[in-house]
Amino acid sequence: MDKIVIHGGQRLRGEIRILGAKNAALPIQCAALLTASPTTLRHVPRLSDVKTMSELLAGLGCAVEGDRTLVIDPAGVAAGPLEAPYELVKTMRASVTVMGPLLAAYGRCRVSLPGGCAIGARPIDQHLRGLEALGAKIKLAHGYVDLKAKRLKGAVFTFDVVTVGGTQNVMMAAALAKGTTRLENVAREPEVQELAVVLNKMGAKIHGAGTSAMEIEGVDTLHGIDHAILPDRIEAGTFMVAAAISQGDVLLEHAPVDHLHAVIAKLEEAGARCLVEPRGLRVIGPEALKPIDIVTRPHPGFPTDMQAQIMVLAAMADGASVIRETIFENRFMHVPELVRLGANIVVSGNTAVVRGPATLSGTIVMATDLRASASLVLAGLVAEGTTEVRRVYHIDRGYETIEDRLRPLGARMTRYHGAGG
Ligand code: EPU
Repeated sequence: MDKIVIHGGQRLRGEIRILGAKNAALPIQCAALLTASPTTLRHVPRLSDVKTMSELLAGLGCAVEGDRTLVIDPAGVAAGPLEAPYELVKTMRASVTVMGPLLAAYGRCRVSLPGGCAIGARPIDQHLRGLEALGAKIKLAHGYVDLKAKRLKGAVFTFDVVTVGGTQNVMMAAALAKGTTRLENVAREPEVQELAVVLNKMGAKIHGAGTSAMEIEGVDTLHGIDHAILPDRIEAGTFMVAAAISQGDVLLEHAPVDHLHAVIAKLEEAGARCLVEPRGLRVIGPEALKPIDIVTRPHPGFPTDMQAQIMVLAAMADGASVIRETIFENRFMHVPELVRLGANIVVSGNTAVVRGPATLSGTIVMATDLRASASLVLAGLVAEGTTEVRRVYHIDRGYETIEDRLRPLGARMTRYHGAGG
């Protein structure tokens, strides 16, 4: 297993181009299953999750070629197993997003149940209820879910909880259903809107994406497209925090400013300056950070995927910050590691009280999930001495060679291959 060693204390300065969004790329890769002709995706980030999804698609019978530009030809899927196996679903929960497309386009599929994961129980009951509303016959046995439907039929369905993956699965299925579907209480995340744009380019008729209800007129067929993945708001948000905590001055080229309002507002409250410039978003870190209170919410609220990173900023701020996590029940696993680096954080239930300013001092820390590991890298950037982040395969799921990205900004970071687990 690789490790990343960081020598803290550098002010980050310069420009960095934001890459394509993981959480947009993954469902769009799945959408390629809905068509009969190849789809070309551009600006695809080189991430292990994207590779896992490509591997899943290849196992289903797709021909998948390239990486930054990915061509997915689903011609072989009809003759394939129509199954997402345990080995891949356990590696990456987003694998369950093939369910809606396979069911809609091929009339059946078999998908391993994901089980819990590091950040919470994360059931898929809403995905299944939504597909059932469209007419799917569902059987659960031997850890797998079997879905069948001759042709899905449009229906009205209201999600009990706002779910990004559930919304994406059901909207993809509804795109090929007979008749009109109305989905209520849907996720409004930019990645859901992006999927609607992609499906509409493929020939679907989806209205209302980005609001809390969507109307989908089913069509008989969809076709392959050529599409560039939108920039990653969470990668941008992570680098924004890096600039803010290091008294840095960083221009984030192609940062999706419209998707970052909640993060920008909190960084400004903390004293950072966020300037929208023609080439992107410039973030200037203050001499002293002010405390901030955060509650994670579905979009357009503050994203749970930025909670761990903003906690590092809170630890450096002068005063007490309160951070409440409302989306996932177990997303504070970075806290004990941040405490080992010197942060003063007390957790009670879903609330963390962070008292600063901390003087962080480098040590060995262990990455536990993707965003937790990003927070450890951020902490390492401002810690005195050397921080060694282990199990960086978690980071590689969602950040493309983060050390190569941050080094040109002045960060002193090195990856050691196969060293430290
Ligand atoms: N939920 C249910 N039932 C369901 C589905 C979800 O109770 O059927 C609950 C979950 O347990 C959770 C909440 O609803 O408490 C929200 O989960 P959601 O379904 O929205 O999450 P997801 O689709 O599994 C995506 C992102 C996550 C991100 C969340 C929330 C992808 C591939 N993943 O997950 O990204 O945290 O939305 O915004 O899009 C990450 O990138 O680090 C990451 C974890």
